[in-house]
Amino acid sequence: MLDLSGVNAFYGKAQVLNDLSFSVAAGQVTALLGRNGAGKTTTMKSIMQLVVAAQGQVQFAGQNLVGKPPHRVAKLGLGYVPEERRIFTDLTVLENLEVGRQPPRDGAVTWTQDMLFELFPNLAERRSNRGREMSGGEQQMLTIARTLMGNPRFLLLDEPSEGIAPVIVEQMVRVIKQLKTEGLTVLLSEQNLHFAQAVADTVVIIEGGTEKYAGTLTDLAQHPEIRDAYLAV
Ligand SMILES: Nc1ncnc2c1ncn2[C@@H]1O[C@H](COP(=O)(O)OP(=O)(O)OP(=O)(O)O)[C@@H](O)[C@H]1O
Ligand SMILES: [Mg+2]
Repeated sequence: MLDLSGVNAFYGKAQVLNDLSFSVAAGQVTALLGRNGAGKTTTMKSIMQLVVAAQGQVQFAGQNLVGKPPHRVAKLGLGYVPEERRIFTDLTVLENLEVGRQPPRDGAVTWTQDMLFELFPNLAERRSNRGREMSGGEQQMLTIARTLMGNPRFLLLDEPSEGIAPVIVEQMVRVIKQLKTEGLTVLLSEQNLHFAQAVADTVVIIEGGTEKYAGTLTDLAQHPEIRDAYLAV
């Protein structure tokens, strides 16, 4: 569904993605793994065209995304939840969700607030609370829920488990599995294997902006040396 091929990306003169190629299969949960500074966020931004690749292609559902403005990329059905959760702190949960609303999209679930409250029960309880009254984990859930209001076919989650309480991480696992059941394709980034092991079908490991390993979690279990070389413990 998504294919990166020979992607190079720079911040000024610093090259951060280096001939990066990998694929994400439709309907799967793929974990993009790599240590601090490996290039995970830059990869996600390069897919969304928030960082423009100097070379290479990003093919999504038969179109090359490179050079398209980010809002056009989003309109094709890619939803992006950045590392830093940006909710509107002065707006209520309901109002935050409304901000994300987009028209229905072919081949994607059309989310309603009620469906999202079923998926995120703790948001339901707090629907009239303002963003600033929510915990970090709840804000992360709200950011995902707001992105789902755009009815994406493909969801990018940058380090969804980072800095949130274990009980919320468990809910996040349940949510991602449910999204897969609903037919969404998910690419999420993580620094370590723990969260990926609970949700992912496939892993892509990067280091220095280059793909070092791609395969199933089961295959990776046969290669502890790869895990030790490229992942945080
Ligand atoms: N805006 C920027 N300007 C210059 N260099 C940057 C910028 N953003 C990231 N970098 C550098 O690019 C490299 C890759 O960063 P990136 O944020 O993509 O890594 P990451 O895998 O997401 O790391 P983390 O796990 O810490 O989130 C790092 O060396 C980082 O210092
Ligand atoms: Mg990052």
